Amino acid sequence: MTSDTQEMGVKRSAKGLVARDGFSTSLGVLAATLGSAVGLGNIWKFPYLTGENGGAAFILVYVIATLLVGLPVMISEHMLGRRARADAIQTLRVLAPKRQPWWLIGAAGCLSAFLILAFYTEVAGWVFAYIFKALTGSILSTDPTQTSGVFNDMATDPAQSLIWQWVVLAVVGAIIMLGVSKGIERATKRLMPVLFVLLIAVCVRSLTLDGAGEGVKFLLRPDFSKLSGEVLLVAMGLAFFKLSIGMGTMITYGSYFRRNQNIPVTASRVMLADLSVSLLAGMAIFPAVFAFGFSPDAGPSLLFITIPAVFASMPLGEVFIIFFFVLTAIAATGAMLSLFEVPVAVLNEQLGLSRVKATLLTMGLLVLVGAPAALSNSTLDDFKLFDKTMFDLYDYATSNILMPVGGLFLALFVGWVWGYDQVKSALSNDGALRNERVIRAFFGVVKFVTPVLVTLVLLDGLNII
Ligand code: TRP
Repeated sequence: MTSDTQEMGVKRSAKGLVARDGFSTSLGVLAATLGSAVGLGNIWKFPYLTGENGGAAFILVYVIATLLVGLPVMISEHMLGRRARADAIQTLRVLAPKRQPWWLIGAAGCLSAFLILAFYTEVAGWVFAYIFKALTGSILSTDPTQTSGVFNDMATDPAQSLIWQWVVLAVVGAIIMLGVSKGIERATKRLMPVLFVLLIAVCVRSLTLDGAGEGVKFLLRPDFSKLSGEVLLVAMGLAFFKLSIGMGTMITYGSYFRRNQNIPVTASRVMLADLSVSLLAGMAIFPAVFAFGFSPDAGPSLLFITIPAVFASMPLGEVFIIFFFVLTAIAATGAMLSLFEVPVAVLNEQLGLSRVKATLLTMGLLVLVGAPAALSNSTLDDFKLFDKTMFDLYDYATSNILMPVGGLFLALFVGWVWGYDQVKSALSNDGALRNERVIRAFFGVVKFVTPVLVTLVLLDGLNII
């Protein structure tokens, strides 16, 4: 089985006459996969959703969703990708019984990748712009009306919005063109340690402020009255978004894993490290927000309006704010690389386009799909579907619907179609690892718990039950 499917992977890419690229070391696998998981999700979404939904209780639900839904789906994706050694669509086509349309999960994943990138590149564009504003000091004011003026001037200017999005697309596209091992792996291996160091520095600064205790309490002391069906849905959506699952990213990365990679261990490490980054980001942000009397529930603009005012209020803030936006830009870049790789791998391996052409085509399509999101605060701010701007719609539809549905079908596929024997041989590296207990626990959860939870939360959150 292994050699057959591996053969297939090699033969298909042999069209290009070279063996299939992949991650070259175990550390590289970890850096790239963690680079995918860690992103604006940790530093922009996690804090603002925690702030809006009442703090510790939301975090608790999010952690449960990560364990019972996120981790099993991530293990599933790595496992399937590595078995098939192919892009997201082809992986499910090769592994599913004939004439069953499971490949649609991969196809829906490509669509999600575009929709996510459309708004993600816009937020990343603001982050890139903020590095320059932090260097010149133009965002530093203790008065939130001032910082909100700076943000609005940028976000409501169509030209600036589009240009920053294109800058981001160009940076990410350039790394993708270099390939999997020379581009993605090398970039993430160098950048991830920088991110950690900067994040810890900002955390220490925030926690040593007078009055930091309120913010720590907000993060650790749950108030369950804040929970509702919609909040559960949002927490689960965040678990999907955070771990880059439910749309083929982790299948694609799994296809570059080494044959002796211990998948359950790797996925658990990524999950834990990612959770730590989110909590550190919370610790970097909320103690400072509370210490200076700002409100935690500012929503998506927390990062761009509240944070600069918070930093302007603290000693050495003008230095730490540069750290902060550089680390956010690094995080966003690693995540966008993995999103880009989904369509690029499909175009490269299914349509036989060269990597450079596949990347250019993806960039071109993103200029088109991304523009409505980029212009959501300016030219198109009145254009709404389902009562949401295109920016919000892309975000909501992917996190709260497409990815959970993709994850649901992946779990069903692994638990009910692929079955225990295949899972066992895939996760034990064909018997080389003695991890049967772990495999059994994983299989039980992915077969029964994950599908039921995802279905219930989807139905409840979308007000169907
Ligand atoms: N996980 C990333 C973050 O938290 C975003 C991301 C990267 C992503 N790849 C993905 C989200 C694939 C969904 C699907 O910022």
